[in-house]
Amino acid sequence: MRQLEGKTVLITGASRGIGLAIARALDGEGARLILVGRTPAPLKRAAAQVPGTVMSMPMDVTHPGEVKRLFSAVRKQVGRLDVLINNAGVFTFKPFAKTTLNDWRRNLETNLTSIFLTTQAALPLLRRSKGDVVNILSVSSRIAFANCSAYSAAKFGALGLTGVLRRELRADGIRVTAILPGMTDTRMKDEFDFPVQSEGLLQPEDVAAAVLSALVQPRRALVEEILLMPSTGPVSGGN
Ligand SMILES: NC(=O)c1ccc[n+]([C@@H]2O[C@H](COP(=O)([O-])OP(=O)(O)OC[C@H]3O[C@@H](n4cnc5c(N)ncnc54)[C@H](OP(=O)(O)O)[C@@H]3O)[C@@H](O)[C@H]2O)c1
Repeated sequence: MRQLEGKTVLITGASRGIGLAIARALDGEGARLILVGRTPAPLKRAAAQVPGTVMSMPMDVTHPGEVKRLFSAVRKQVGRLDVLINNAGVFTFKPFAKTTLNDWRRNLETNLTSIFLTTQAALPLLRRSKGDVVNILSVSSRIAFANCSAYSAAKFGALGLTGVLRRELRADGIRVTAILPGMTDTRMKDEFDFPVQSEGLLQPEDVAAAVLSALVQPRRALVEEILLMPSTGPVSGGN
């Protein structure tokens, strides 16, 4: 018996990187997947790689109207939701003095406000299924790195929001988990202003395995937080 047979899982930012790896891992355990990302072509390619996809919708998780439309379609076309995975994110690497208001807003809206919007819209379905919310946060939710002001502000905020949701939603039988990866080998690393080698970084599959390990715990057990770091290379927090 596959461990997520019969479960419906919605993943934001599922067209590549960590989101796509999570989709593949959960597909392997029999989940039915709903994939979300902004750009239609890569999202379509991702859906083609994940046989358990029951719906994919190109949309922007920062737009309240589009989020409403997404969850209305989930209700009508799929009828249930067991797991919401808030993974969509952006990253800006710039000194604070050079960070524009646009950079600031893009990070806050994509990495933080989107969690407010999607989680609120998903609540009626998650209450019915006594489901799970998994937020893909970052080591930058705990440690302040230089040149990451907008990202860090958003990810620290998202960790705070995740904690509040965990406390409030336990009365509904909904589990809320935070996954905090260190640097992972995805397109996001192109945002640094210096080349980053893949060697020694986490792979998206490592983060996906952490998500799966939280979801398959018995319902009586809640994995509140996983901080997942590369096991070699410089120790984090050194900058
Ligand atoms: N890579 C790392 O080192 C690392 C470390 C710690 C945490 N994380 C976190 O892991 C998550 C995934 O990052 P990743 O490394 O896999 O990055 P990635 O390869 O750049 O993927 C980001 C995904 O999010 C989607 N996305 C971005 N903005 C969106 C929006 N407004 N609406 C809907 N979808 C949107 C992208 O598709 P479109 O562009 O087509 O929308 C893409 O599918 C992020 O929350 C990130 O902060 C990453």
